[in-house]
Amino acid sequence: MSKFIIVGQKPLNGEISVGGAKNAALKIIPAALLSSSEVIVHNVPKIEDVNRALELFADLGGKINRQADKLVLSMKNFNKTTLEPAFANKLRASIMFVAPLLARSGEVKFPHPGGCVIGAGLRPIDLFIDGFKAMGAEVKFSDGYYHLTAKRLKGCNYFFTIVSVTSTECFIMAATLAEGTTTLKNCAMEPEIVALAEHLNKCGARITGAGTSTITIEGVDKITGGEVTVIPDRIEAGTFAILAAVTRSALMIKNCRPDHLDSLLTIFKKLNIEFETGVDYLKIKKVPEIIKAYNLKTHEYPGFPTDLQSPFTVLMTQATGTSLIHETIYDRRLLFTDMLTQMGANITMCDPHRVVIQGPTPLRGRSLTSPDLRAGISMIIAGAIASGHTEIDNIYQIERGYEKIDERLKKIGLDISRVD
Ligand code: EPU
Repeated sequence: MSKFIIVGQKPLNGEISVGGAKNAALKIIPAALLSSSEVIVHNVPKIEDVNRALELFADLGGKINRQADKLVLSMKNFNKTTLEPAFANKLRASIMFVAPLLARSGEVKFPHPGGCVIGAGLRPIDLFIDGFKAMGAEVKFSDGYYHLTAKRLKGCNYFFTIVSVTSTECFIMAATLAEGTTTLKNCAMEPEIVALAEHLNKCGARITGAGTSTITIEGVDKITGGEVTVIPDRIEAGTFAILAAVTRSALMIKNCRPDHLDSLLTIFKKLNIEFETGVDYLKIKKVPEIIKAYNLKTHEYPGFPTDLQSPFTVLMTQATGTSLIHETIYDRRLLFTDMLTQMGANITMCDPHRVVIQGPTPLRGRSLTSPDLRAGISMIIAGAIASGHTEIDNIYQIERGYEKIDERLKKIGLDISRVD
């Protein structure tokens, strides 16, 4: 199994470029199933989750031409209506294939999707099942598969009892080819949802309100293909910004959208971390000698993203005073703090959703296993400030979401090597 070895406490500086957003690409790929004509996608990150989504796309009969960061996708005819466990078990976002498949084929079979283990047991899909029923689908469960059928989905008024990113995106896709009008309420408002809706509208869908809590979709008989550029990954940009802050480095983060990072940058201001922003760059200029402790609560967009909670938690181990980290979205996303404790951090877990950090404490390198994507990148950040060597295995988890992360971090001065 491959691992990363980091020799910490080296100064970082220079420029780093942000790739296309994983959680935008993972929706644009299945959305290409909604039409039989070509969809051209630019700025596609070369990450394992995208590879898995493309394998699933191909397994269903889709044609793929991939050159550098450009993808040409087309799905003339499905050769099956089942999402095979071999693919679906590896990717939570496999659930995004369900709506287009059902809308175009009238049926779909799929197992419970896999992905990061960051919630109790398997991450639930009750909202999806409930929403499809509300749109008139018949739902059965047998032999480990959900089986959904609907000649044509019907528009409806649907209220999400939990704000959920992929559920919102799923029903934008389902309603696009449904009969009549669908109104979705209590929707998630993430930039990736806006990006999906804008792309589908260019292909002929009629979606209004994406980026607000109420989205209305007037169903159409069909949509065409189109061309789209994946928006920059705000989580990757925020991760690099936190890496700069914790290592007290000046860093230029290029090809990003600072306007998608208001929550993090507002906190940086409170911590007196000096930065500059332009339309497509974020420059971390100066980090104070003493970083103040901060009580963080994750929240749906535009609040502080759960996907940046673990890097921020590493930052707080170097802050002076007591910080409370309250992870409101997932109940296993703080378990990685046990590894920070092994490295020397002073962290007390109050309950699965809250930890208290007393800082600052020096960190020492250790051998660690990356439990999931965001905890994995946080191990790299912790390794960057730790004394000695930090070894991280199970790096597939990190490479699921960060393209060539070792090569890119090496260029800004991190002493990191990949051992295969
Ligand atoms: N939930 C339910 N029932 C459902 C669906 C969700 O109870 O049917 C709950 C979840 O358990 C969670 C909450 O709703 O407590 C919100 O989860 P959400 O559905 O928004 O998460 P998601 O759509 O599965 C996406 C991203 C995650 C990101 C979250 C929150 C994708 C592919 N994944 O997940 O990304 O953490 O939104 O922003 O878009 C990551 O990139 O590392 C990652 C986990």
